[in-house]
Amino acid sequence: MGPQPAAFSTSIRRHNTLPQDHLNWIVRIHVDQGDPDSAGYGHLTVARSPRLAGPMTSPNISESLREFIEEAPVARGPHIAFLQHAASELAQGATILDIGAGDAPYRELFGNADYKTCDWDRSIYSPGRPPDIVAPADNVPLPDSSLDAIVSTQVLEHVAEPGLVLEEFYRLLKPKGHLYVTTPLVWYLHEQPHDYYRYTSHGLRYLLNRAGFVNIEIAPMNDAFSTISQLTAHLGYMMGHNPDGYDGRRDIIARTMVEVASLIGSFSDFDTQWILPISFSAEAIRPN
Ligand SMILES: C[S@@+](CC[C@H](N)C(=O)[O-])C[C@H]1O[C@@H](n2cnc3c(N)ncnc32)[C@H](O)[C@@H]1O
Repeated sequence: MGPQPAAFSTSIRRHNTLPQDHLNWIVRIHVDQGDPDSAGYGHLTVARSPRLAGPMTSPNISESLREFIEEAPVARGPHIAFLQHAASELAQGATILDIGAGDAPYRELFGNADYKTCDWDRSIYSPGRPPDIVAPADNVPLPDSSLDAIVSTQVLEHVAEPGLVLEEFYRLLKPKGHLYVTTPLVWYLHEQPHDYYRYTSHGLRYLLNRAGFVNIEIAPMNDAFSTISQLTAHLGYMMGHNPDGYDGRRDIIARTMVEVASLIGSFSDFDTQWILPISFSAEAIRPN
């Protein structure tokens, strides 16, 4: 361990003495560096944006999907609207394959379709219902032009050759078939060592275009405050633990970061640019 962190305590709380159209926070951070007067103390009052975001999750989802979303609400919540939109574009009984499905958390959103899953044999997931197809995303044992749609959420960062995977998606889709993917721009390492890339919107468009897709629509899935808030809330997980005697302090830091995250996230509707989303969603079509 490097230099020892100073002893500190923090408190951040929202208080309700102002009208509803203001956010009012007291931020109190005390850092003890041997100087008893080193406490920082501040008030932060911000006018509430008229377009503050509503709840990220739909009320019409199962308890298990809600729990899955709540583990990482900013990263996962916006998937609901994106995939509900995908499902709404599918004809009754259309064939859709969820490639790199993991636990297939979004299965229930495709109740109107013939929804099947695919994951490779090195998956860390053990879903209650095993994948319908066990195969790598760049070599799925289905005939050409056999699917009406493909969904693949948070998978392309895990494949070493994303261009080959997108070519495979193109091969599998029928002409006019739809592809729905999401890819992270920002996230910590996960499912190592198979964690190869993060994607900008432009990189994703380039790859989709090169694979032959048309009508490519790419959108950021959340604002910058929410991104920083989500990552801040997960700092405790990222930091981990170590039997060096400082885990108690790490736990305090982790809890503090959750409160800091709440403060940062409360400003989400002030972001006008959305240039730091956790993920981008992309929809594209295989032409004739
Ligand atoms: C971050 S998880 C996403 C799971 C799920 N799609 C979701 O959004 O919750 C990445 C998934 O991609 C799968 N995966 C990684 N590399 C793969 C490959 N080469 N071929 C097929 N699936 C792969 C993993 O097994 C895992 O299920």
